[in-house]
Amino acid sequence: MNIINARLRGKSGLFCIRLEGDRIAAIEPQASVLALSNPEDLDASQNLVVAPFIEPHIHLDAALTAGEPRWNMSGTLFEGIECWGERKALTTHDDIKARARKALDMLVDHGIQHVRTHVDVTDPALTALKAMVEVRDEVRQLVDLQIVAFPQEGIESFANGRALMTEAVAIGADVVGGIPHFENTRDQGVSSVKFLMDLAERSGCLVDVHCDETDDPQSRFLEVLAEEARVRGMGARVTASHTVAMGSYDNAYCYKLFRLLKLSGINFVSCPTESIHLQGRFDSFPKRRGVTRVAELDRAGMNVCFGQDSIVDPWYPLGNGNILRILEAGLHICHMLGYEDLQRCLDLITDNSARTLNLGERYGIEVGRPANLLLLSAPDDYEMVRSQGHALVSVRHGKVLMRRTPARVERSA
Ligand code: FE2
Repeated sequence: MNIINARLRGKSGLFCIRLEGDRIAAIEPQASVLALSNPEDLDASQNLVVAPFIEPHIHLDAALTAGEPRWNMSGTLFEGIECWGERKALTTHDDIKARARKALDMLVDHGIQHVRTHVDVTDPALTALKAMVEVRDEVRQLVDLQIVAFPQEGIESFANGRALMTEAVAIGADVVGGIPHFENTRDQGVSSVKFLMDLAERSGCLVDVHCDETDDPQSRFLEVLAEEARVRGMGARVTASHTVAMGSYDNAYCYKLFRLLKLSGINFVSCPTESIHLQGRFDSFPKRRGVTRVAELDRAGMNVCFGQDSIVDPWYPLGNGNILRILEAGLHICHMLGYEDLQRCLDLITDNSARTLNLGERYGIEVGRPANLLLLSAPDDYEMVRSQGHALVSVRHGKVLMRRTPARVERSA
């Protein structure tokens, strides 16, 4: 299969991308616009062809449960946790699998082919984790799924929390999670980070911690995670998700913190729609945005990407799988609508996310890499966001996985 009339990010002119089997076989410059002659080929129509979109942070086990058994009336994170506690008691193996598959279909329909899902392991039966391990195998043709062993109710503060984390890794979790700011005490938060880093180092798992997801400026577990990563030389394999307390740290502390963050080499995921909705809830006015310092991390040369976090769950009632919606909102929320940011904003849902997920040579539009790519509806990053564009075709393993027909407008005058 050839993809003709393709634009590539960071390159000028048009290209023909040749796919052979499940690999990219060649990328050749075109002297002029070509007409489609082979029905098996695809015409990118002088628009962008990019590697697939990535969802680096979602909770598939909780997806599509909003309103069950009751709605989160306050909209706060804390009522969300209470609602989830009630819903969790009703979950079954099949229920989790069915909802995860449905949510994954929504992601696939928007051009996502790599997903990292956090799965709650504060459950003595590990029901969700066992279900998700099956889902990971069943959806291989659609997406590559990374499973995070996520201790929603704590590692140290939950009965047998350490044993459940260890068992989750033995069953097949790819990534070790944590939630230090939710532990009962600061000391427990610190020891939970040391425990989870030990577990990851021992097992070879990646790390992705829900870190400082609170407006409390005293929540400072990010420095603990970064230092553990630095000392162990594991930074590239470690991700700090949310880190919204950083939006409330004063600049003097942040100045010192950034030095450590940079030395550590860890990755960051921000979930801007979720955070703007859940945080700032204890403020009257002025009201904090409750998001991490995305632009500042990026400017300082650190790796940061955007995730959805939720689709219709007790914490967030909206969501449709479209990561471009998160990108647009995130650029607004994080003060990133400047010209230079707009020129390269797709990094936040493609290349930066791939680095976070440690995809390495399994990702990217380069000869020899997997024939996984998207045909987009616009010629550049800026126009993709401005026009609220879409992934029109998703190709995976060298075959068309999804096609989207854009809405058509007809005017009579
Ligand atoms: Fe999360």
